[in-house]
Amino acid sequence: MNSSDHDPLWYKKAIFYETPVKSFFDSNGDGIGDFRGMMEKLEYFTFLGVDCIWLLPFYESPMKDGGYDVSDYYSIHPDYGTLEDFKEFLEKAHSLGLKVIIDLVLNHVSDQHEWFREARSSRDSPKRDWFVWSDTDEKYRNARIIFIDTEKSNWTWDEGTGQFYWHRFYSHQPDLNYENPELREAVKDVVRFWAGLGVDGFRCDAVPYLFEDEETNCENLPETHLYFKELRKMVDDEFPGIVLLAEANQWPTDAAKYFGDGDEFHMAFNFPLMPRIFIALAKEDSLPIVSVIAQTIGIPDNCAWGVFLRNHDELTLEMVTDEERDLMYQEYAKVPRMRLNLGIRRRLSTLVEQDRPTMEMLHSLILTMPGTPILYYGDEIGMGDNIELGDRDGVRTPMQWTSGKNAGFSSTDPEKLYSPIVTRAPYSYEIANVETQSELNTSFLNWLRKMIRTRREYSETIGLGTISFPKTDNRKVLVYMRNRDDVHLLFLLNLSREPVSLHVELPEFEGLKPFEARSNTPFPAIGSDPYFFTMAPRSFFWFQLRSDENGEASD
Ligand code: NOJ
Repeated sequence: MNSSDHDPLWYKKAIFYETPVKSFFDSNGDGIGDFRGMMEKLEYFTFLGVDCIWLLPFYESPMKDGGYDVSDYYSIHPDYGTLEDFKEFLEKAHSLGLKVIIDLVLNHVSDQHEWFREARSSRDSPKRDWFVWSDTDEKYRNARIIFIDTEKSNWTWDEGTGQFYWHRFYSHQPDLNYENPELREAVKDVVRFWAGLGVDGFRCDAVPYLFEDEETNCENLPETHLYFKELRKMVDDEFPGIVLLAEANQWPTDAAKYFGDGDEFHMAFNFPLMPRIFIALAKEDSLPIVSVIAQTIGIPDNCAWGVFLRNHDELTLEMVTDEERDLMYQEYAKVPRMRLNLGIRRRLSTLVEQDRPTMEMLHSLILTMPGTPILYYGDEIGMGDNIELGDRDGVRTPMQWTSGKNAGFSSTDPEKLYSPIVTRAPYSYEIANVETQSELNTSFLNWLRKMIRTRREYSETIGLGTISFPKTDNRKVLVYMRNRDDVHLLFLLNLSREPVSLHVELPEFEGLKPFEARSNTPFPAIGSDPYFFTMAPRSFFWFQLRSDENGEASD
């Protein structure tokens, strides 16, 4: 299946699922997940109901940053299999109707990449200018350090050639120099290679940092946007249908600029929204969400935010106020080991202490906000984390398939696993596993599957429609509508830990009835007075507003 055969806006109606190949399923018993393992488990994605798999970097790499330290863009890391395995995986995924997007790490490479080895071999190397060098470490002082727990500077001294090289992340990840036209082309060639194999898109890593400029903080520079517009034009011309997703962890206006005029990225992660969901929860106040949505709507029609709760990194708190960060640490990371850089290295279920109503409400939110929901592997079974592991490894432990040996992830000896399995109750593989939860009708996994199916019935309205906020008299409840043509959906989420009541003003819908979306149960008709609701703690409602005669439950 080729992505261009399909609805060109498929990514606006889809649900994405993020996973590292390493963590998903080990087919050859070496303790590390691989492409053949991914192939064996492909039906799990259709069982869950997601449309698109986002694979973390799987290229050759010394693996000092989870594969975001690429040493060869054109080969698969031998732990994960071969290029043939990848092609077979892609073909099988497509035959099941699944899309696959892959990570493109384009701001930097590993210091083991041939390009950098050559560049540092001599100041006259033809590759020298593919990286950013300086005689002093005084340049670009306004650029912040991102990995503040490990890096002291964005410059590292290269003994051999007597200059510093520039890096925004680990010192073993030299930044590429996008001023260099050959380098710019070389990165496009990487895209051509993988697009040519048939991938459906790229999650572009660390996009704000491609260029440097002394007068700025070296983020979101106009040249960076120009490069991505060039890249977009190239994929549109040569590989129509390919989707580009931006990882730009920025304040709302800067993040939204990556959509350009609909001619840059198709998608960008909604980093502004993510931490504010958790802030709203902690404060039991819908305002942080309402105000960030107001700042992130109005993007071009062919673009979509990627809406997520957690991912493979720490829950980043770089783009919140100091006060908000303190609140987040206080609420969600009391133990210092739970913190990393400016963030919290925990999974969703541990953040909310596996509180089922809260987990449901949060998923209800990301399934219905403007944008494309992006789930993180294991969150669908309430998998836990392991803060004893270093860096972000604690949120990248093996997927828990069964209550058997190695959680059904691998047949190897437990000590040979790339990472220990989570064994701490109540997040342990003995309960939080796919097999047990598939069999249990009331499990979180089965709840989420049903919600995904309900969302699918309304994917036109939720994926393409507008959002509005009816007036209410209780800020503890997030109330919003998603509208498209004559379909009107009403959502209520009680952020409070207590039961609440509220009035919602719905004057333009007088005479219609709210039909609960999953059961199609009618509620009393909307009259001329504000509509009255009562809600249990951390509960939610999905309604379609329609008349009795119109029997259609979906759009
Ligand atoms: C963002 C990725 O999500 C993260 O895992 C990585 O460490 C940095 N970019 C550097 O590539």
